[in-house]
Amino acid sequence: MTDKNRVWIFDTTLRDGEQSPGATMTHAEKLEIAQMLDEMGVDVIEAGFPIASEGDFAAVTEIAKRSQNSVICGLARAQLPDIDRCWEAVKHARRPRIHTFIGTSPLHRAIPNLDMDQMADRIHQTVTHARNLCDNVQWSPMDATRTEHDYLCRVVEIAIKAGATTINIPDTVGYTAPRESADLIRMLLERVPGADEIVFATHCHNDLGMATANSLAAVEAGARQIECTINGLGERAGNTALEEVVMALKVRHDIMPFDTGIDTTKIMGLSRRVAQASGFAVQPNKAIVGKNAFLHESGIHQDGVLKNVETFEIMRPADIGLNEANIAMGKHSGRAALRSKLRDLGYEVGDNQLKDIFVRFKALADRKKEIYDDDLVALMQDSAANTEADYLQVKHLRVVCGSDGQSADLTMIVGGEEKTVHAEGDGPVDACFNAVKAIWPHQAVLQLYQVHAVTEGTDAQATVSVRMEEDGRIATGQAADTDTILASVRAYVGALNRLKVRREMVGENADAKQVSMYSH
Ligand code: KIV
Ligand code: ZN
Repeated sequence: MTDKNRVWIFDTTLRDGEQSPGATMTHAEKLEIAQMLDEMGVDVIEAGFPIASEGDFAAVTEIAKRSQNSVICGLARAQLPDIDRCWEAVKHARRPRIHTFIGTSPLHRAIPNLDMDQMADRIHQTVTHARNLCDNVQWSPMDATRTEHDYLCRVVEIAIKAGATTINIPDTVGYTAPRESADLIRMLLERVPGADEIVFATHCHNDLGMATANSLAAVEAGARQIECTINGLGERAGNTALEEVVMALKVRHDIMPFDTGIDTTKIMGLSRRVAQASGFAVQPNKAIVGKNAFLHESGIHQDGVLKNVETFEIMRPADIGLNEANIAMGKHSGRAALRSKLRDLGYEVGDNQLKDIFVRFKALADRKKEIYDDDLVALMQDSAANTEADYLQVKHLRVVCGSDGQSADLTMIVGGEEKTVHAEGDGPVDACFNAVKAIWPHQAVLQLYQVHAVTEGTDAQATVSVRMEEDGRIATGQAADTDTILASVRAYVGALNRLKVRREMVGENADAKQVSMYSH
């Protein structure tokens, strides 16, 4: 890194983000998201935790092989086999990086039962080993913000001497506050010999809602890499949101004169793709990428924005790739118009995919007079989540509801075979889910069932998200339809398809959560 005001963006959506219970993404989704991150100008992509599973190893390897500009990084615990496995995966990248870590706070030191000296030796040994394999090594003292300052300085110095080129300072449990975050980086820069020769990174979790503020404070104090995820995805309250730090640095360049290499017009496309692949919908009032982030509902605001956009807008929707003209499309819109609209929304579709999407678009246009951008996004998300290759598919549904009772007649395709049942329940959704259960018996427990209207009006599409749990594995399903009950059943079946895939992968040790982050 040459320019002293250049801040590197390290995206960990595919590693820390995917660690959110239920956010597991498929191999194909990970490859697609990595490519989008690379095209967006992300400096480092943390592609996974290669020792965690065969699935993670395969994804990191393939992402490394396909990478163009971004550094491709893999995570490894402070163990030699972890580091070797990580190197095996990332070595295919044009620019590989090994990221190794160990918990250094008193609470974390107690887990592997290492005293301060033993841990220091382990850090020296593992960072040296990583550096012998790769000339780009990142080291993290997990729970750094709750580690004694003297000990933190000591281990950071050891890691630098052993060859670490980036030192990441994680606020693992989202405990720190902005002033503290800055003071910590400043203290390390002042006290640790060799600190001026490496890059300090900041890695914040959002448990107290301060991840963005803490990351920016660390940068002002001298950190030059921000670790973050798209939509702030991540365990518990999530990680620092990429879109927030990048746009904060862009919009408030006057007081934070730091540059990133991010093409911000790609933010919205990535946000939608990650929401769809992870099954974690973006809250409507989420900064930058929430559905309401650029909506002006009140008369005073609308009036002001019409007269001069700067009265109530500090950035333009186009800056993040949001198409301002939410122009309605309808049943007379052709294939070329659809393709161009999808492109505006950040979706590049091939001819075959366009053919399928067009059929679904026409079907929707028959039921709904005007198709808005959000309808198309919902349609694209539904098509990505539910495909004709799925083992379980909903073929036909007829529901009876009202004051005399509720029942469902459901026909599904199960591995190519058609099955029909009749079921009853407490309400139409319950009757439908009982019908699915009769066709495909399972032990999975419904953890979340959410319905959102995509647009306004009684003919609006509903997007339904479902989260299910089975034997500690969590999977989500999503679907959109103008018929809320049909969308509910398709989302439910989508989650069951994902659980089935994950169950089959367990035999190959493909469940990323099988390896404990703490067993050092
Ligand atoms: O939050 C954390 O401490 C981490 C480390 C593995 C870097 O994600
Ligand atoms: Zn983390």
